[in-house]
Amino acid sequence: MHADAEQPQRDQDAQPLLSVRDLQAYYQTSHAGVRRGIRAVDGVSFAVRRGEIYGLAGESSSGKTTLIKSIAGAIRPPLEIVGGSMEFAFLPGYGGLHRAPPAELERIRWRHLSYIMQGSMNVLNPVRRVRSSFVDFAYPHIGGSRRRFEQQVIAHLARVKLDPSVLAAFPHELSGGMRQRAALALATICRPGFIIADEPTTALDVVVQKEVLGMLRGIQRETGSSVLFVTHDMGVHAHITDRLAIMYAGRLVEEAATTEIFGNPLHPYTRHLISSLPRIGDDAPRQGLGGAPPNLADPPSGCRFHPRCPLAREICRREIPVMGESAPGHRVACFAVNQGERA
Ligand SMILES: Nc1ncnc2c1ncn2[C@@H]1O[C@H](COP(=O)(O)OP(=O)(O)OP(=O)(O)O)[C@@H](O)[C@H]1O
Ligand code: SF4
Ligand SMILES: [Mg+2]
Repeated sequence: MHADAEQPQRDQDAQPLLSVRDLQAYYQTSHAGVRRGIRAVDGVSFAVRRGEIYGLAGESSSGKTTLIKSIAGAIRPPLEIVGGSMEFAFLPGYGGLHRAPPAELERIRWRHLSYIMQGSMNVLNPVRRVRSSFVDFAYPHIGGSRRRFEQQVIAHLARVKLDPSVLAAFPHELSGGMRQRAALALATICRPGFIIADEPTTALDVVVQKEVLGMLRGIQRETGSSVLFVTHDMGVHAHITDRLAIMYAGRLVEEAATTEIFGNPLHPYTRHLISSLPRIGDDAPRQGLGGAPPNLADPPSGCRFHPRCPLAREICRREIPVMGESAPGHRVACFAVNQGERA
């Protein structure tokens, strides 16, 4: 590759929009007087570059929402940040939203960062008309006359194929698909540099889901923003994300360009996820993964996947595998892969 062609890539890597380092986020619960930590996120590190859609996948209870809540600063007891940092380019020096003063949070919310929580109603105020949610959250950042603001909102709603009449409706009066599109419009109207979306299309039927994903991709391309996109649905990741991280039992096990994850999955858990995807015209029964996901209050020693892994060996029970770069841009946490053996 020509040296000049490499430069923009290096600049992107040098200045990620978000850097998460060795994050540990636990639910500190107590049962019959015995305190225990549910280690839902345990030593996670990754970076989201400018202008990319970064995906996070993994089965239910693997810790995706806990990771996203921690990054978005939505940390309420019993959830606690136990260690590590989350550094945003637009909020340098704090190591996470939970450490930033309220005035700084006010400055960045909606303008630099918007968060679409799991569950489509959450971003819209359920007891107020949709118009009020736009006025409450977006107007303070956009300003100008109320009439001009309303015109801007209507134009933005048209982009997600919504009629202006939704502004007068309460969220519960809209269909799931309309609510999701209204939430997406609200999350993007201030053209934030960073959008965090947790299962934003999971409740939608396939046709509406495709439409909403297309709109999100369109808005992201137009504004050049970064998106951290979370879903357990690998088909959705294949459709929308540029890079993809796979989470298992509170830890990242693999990260690469999405095409690379699908074309050359390396971690045994990722290989299982890919091989269990349905294929058109292939009726052969899929082999399931034996065992169950671990209890995060008392996870297995060493590699958390070892009780279910067909390649497990002695070291996997004793030592925690760290993410190693198996090829440029392809990171895997697995002793078998990093020692050159594959299934
Ligand atoms: N409020 C809570 N108190 C205690 N434990 C919790 C709480 N919320 C989540 N957990 C536990 O943390 C772990 C991770 O849950 P999380 O919701 O982050 O998973 P997820 O990957 O987002 O799952 P899903 O795909 O179902 O949304 C699970 O073991 C879950 O039971
Ligand atoms: S580290 Fe060992 S147990 Fe874990 S995925 Fe790799 S081979 Fe399997
Ligand atoms: Mg979740």
